Amino acid sequence: MKSLHIFCIMALSVDLVRSSVQICQDTNEESFTIACGSPGKDGLPGRDGNVGPKGDKGDQGPRGITGQSGPQGPPGVPGERGPQGPPGPKGDTGDSGASALEALKAQVNANEQELRSLKTALEAQKKALFLNSRSSGEKIYISKDVEVTYREAVQICSRAGGQLASPQNNAENDAVLAISLEKKKRPFLGINDIQLEGSFRYPNGQAIGYSNWYPREPNDDYGVEDCVEMYDTGKWNDKNCEEKRLVICEFL
Ligand code: GLC
Ligand code: CA
Ligand code: CA
Repeated sequence: MKSLHIFCIMALSVDLVRSSVQICQDTNEESFTIACGSPGKDGLPGRDGNVGPKGDKGDQGPRGITGQSGPQGPPGVPGERGPQGPPGPKGDTGDSGASALEALKAQVNANEQELRSLKTALEAQKKALFLNSRSSGEKIYISKDVEVTYREAVQICSRAGGQLASPQNNAENDAVLAISLEKKKRPFLGINDIQLEGSFRYPNGQAIGYSNWYPREPNDDYGVEDCVEMYDTGKWNDKNCEEKRLVICEFL
């Protein structure tokens, strides 16, 4: 059997050239049996074999020389329009033009009514301002009818967007006096010598350029008078800042 095998392999080496030897796989044994008879007719082509294992990755090739980029080509032809999509969902029922117009009319009426009430309120405010304020030149003086310490008075006016009344001429002094007489209370002025004894200044720190002192004032009585009150004559007296006086603010 073995000798036959060897003989056949030898014959194969010769006969393969002529394609006259049939090689068949024996499914039971893992070997090839070569029939060495007279050449038969060609059989049907066999089934494709299984895909073999993947080979190793090859070496990287040499880097190519970078060429110069050529001029930009012309823009491409626009593509064909795609197929039309499905129709969208149905929209909400819209208002009719007539009802939109009615809504607009109602809005205009509401606006007009609000405008009327705002005008009325503004007139009332103007009257209140006219009755409660005095103006001199550019300044407007308004009193908050309360009596508080100097520090509190400064805060009240500052929070209102103004400052404690600081008359800089007779007309302004008269405007402040008019409010004081109306309220029947002495006000504190913004003028003081808190920073430096004897050096009276406006709230902004500037030295005063106008004064209306009562005779023999300021006297810094007991060494504790750094604020200024106005008498009912319009004359000034330096006074203890812890006293409580009327608040009159000025607005520019
Ligand atoms: C008197 C003084 C005045 C002082 C006051 C104090 O009126 O004339 O200068 O401020 O007493 O209460
Ligand atoms: Ca003083
Ligand atoms: Ca005094």
